[in-house]
Amino acid sequence: MPYYVTTPIYYVNAEPHLGHAYTTIAADVLARHMRQRGEDVFFLTGTDEHGEPVTQAAERLGVTPRELGDRNAVRFKDLAARVGATTDFFIRTTDPEHATVVQEVVQRIQDNGHVYPGTYEGWYCPRCADFKSESEVEDGDRCPIHKIKLDWEKEDNYFFRLSTFQEPLERLYAERPEFVRPEIRYNEALSFIRQGLRDVSLSRARLKWGVPVPWDPEQVIYVWIDALLNYYSALSYAIEGHDLTDRFWPATVHLIGKDILKFHAVIWPAMLMAAGIEVPRSVFVHGFLLMGEQKMSKSLGNVIDPFEVIELFGADALRFYVLREVTFGTDGSVSPEGFETRYTTELANEYGNLASRTLAMVDRFRGGAVPAVRPPDDLAGDFEGLADRVCERFDEVDVSGALDEIWRRIRRVNQWVQDEAPWQLAKDEGSTDRLDAVLSGLVESLRVISILLQPFMPEATDRLLTAIGAEDRSIEAARFGAGEPTGAVAPLEPLFPRIEREPQPAA
Ligand code: MSP
Repeated sequence: MPYYVTTPIYYVNAEPHLGHAYTTIAADVLARHMRQRGEDVFFLTGTDEHGEPVTQAAERLGVTPRELGDRNAVRFKDLAARVGATTDFFIRTTDPEHATVVQEVVQRIQDNGHVYPGTYEGWYCPRCADFKSESEVEDGDRCPIHKIKLDWEKEDNYFFRLSTFQEPLERLYAERPEFVRPEIRYNEALSFIRQGLRDVSLSRARLKWGVPVPWDPEQVIYVWIDALLNYYSALSYAIEGHDLTDRFWPATVHLIGKDILKFHAVIWPAMLMAAGIEVPRSVFVHGFLLMGEQKMSKSLGNVIDPFEVIELFGADALRFYVLREVTFGTDGSVSPEGFETRYTTELANEYGNLASRTLAMVDRFRGGAVPAVRPPDDLAGDFEGLADRVCERFDEVDVSGALDEIWRRIRRVNQWVQDEAPWQLAKDEGSTDRLDAVLSGLVESLRVISILLQPFMPEATDRLLTAIGAEDRSIEAARFGAGEPTGAVAPLEPLFPRIEREPQPAA
């Protein structure tokens, strides 16, 4: 089955921070999991380089928008690589191939009678690149997201007849309750639609930095129309000489943050309908990573630098932390202290330690050979249906839920090993068989858990699976008892070394 997952394309007006890494990590976890299931996956991310957000930032820095784009696109690309994202393509809206598709689709929308010239007058946020209605304005003239004073704009431009799509959108929502998830965002988008839709600008007259309107090159296409089309255009040129559109369109899931819901859940499907293109299967909306009570953002200056965390603790720890600490789909706070706590208690102690003590016991009690006996039934029972439940969670894009399913097994196995106390069994000659079974069960548990954890922590799980000789990492192999006899175990460096503290000077 095709599985096409996307992240928003990131504005190149500033350097990336953890909030951007977040969506890319979640999308990568989905992509890796679906590949384990043998699905035909395409994973897209990239940068949004046109419009006011970039133009104004470039002006402030005294560089051209293109220069700023070139400088920061590299950083976003680097971030994707550093978090371990297995992207199939990195799109930039300055790619000429993208511009061609944008013009073609906009021309189709015009040919189908959904465009007219008009005058826009109203509030505009240059940071959101969004025309705000009165109900979307805070304190009379402020952007509720960026907290800045809005501009009052008056401009002749072309309009897209969004209002005529009210009914088709209501029908879409009625027929496909999974079109927008979680439910709270579905309700939010639907009530926005039901309030009545205003037509939206499709072009900008004052801006020069963008894709020219095909029938009026004096104007550029509104940056959101341009940006949204990346999901569609990328498929036509991501792989030279191959058009992947028929294979992957409609997209399976667009992952987005809650601030860009209206664009993805209302304008985007309407645009596609207007152009006669199938709408995506679903949009999944995650919350914000907060620092304290506030959204982490470059303009507020309260950001965690993902590059730094990765440098110190590795990409796996960061990937784990953001998806474990904050339920995917809701807002949640992150902090350096929170990170250290999760790292120590869960990664180093619960998972890392289970791995190292298991391998150490196989080494000490059985000379490094995993006993070739059936693991105990009580342990097998604990794993019953686990892989299926994890798959179900992923089908719902419940990334944190999937991780929790797996983590509960880790805790259970830790409890089990305490109860079984193999170090006691080793002292008793009459318990040889039980010790064999316990060790075999522990290795098998680690194997299943680590295969399921692979999408979250590819590097650490790979090391462990390699150490126990488990080659098959497909979802079929993630069933208890399905593994090949692993034979000998190889030595393993700690998966998550403890955080060493500089000794504090005495008070
Ligand atoms: N360029 C547009 C998206 C166009 S998609 C066709 C844009 N870019 S952005 O760089 O401002 O934001 C990109 C994504 O990062 C958004 O989904 C936004 O929600 C997300 N995040 C930015 N800061 C965030 C947090 N602090 N927490 C979680 N996600 C956040 O909007």
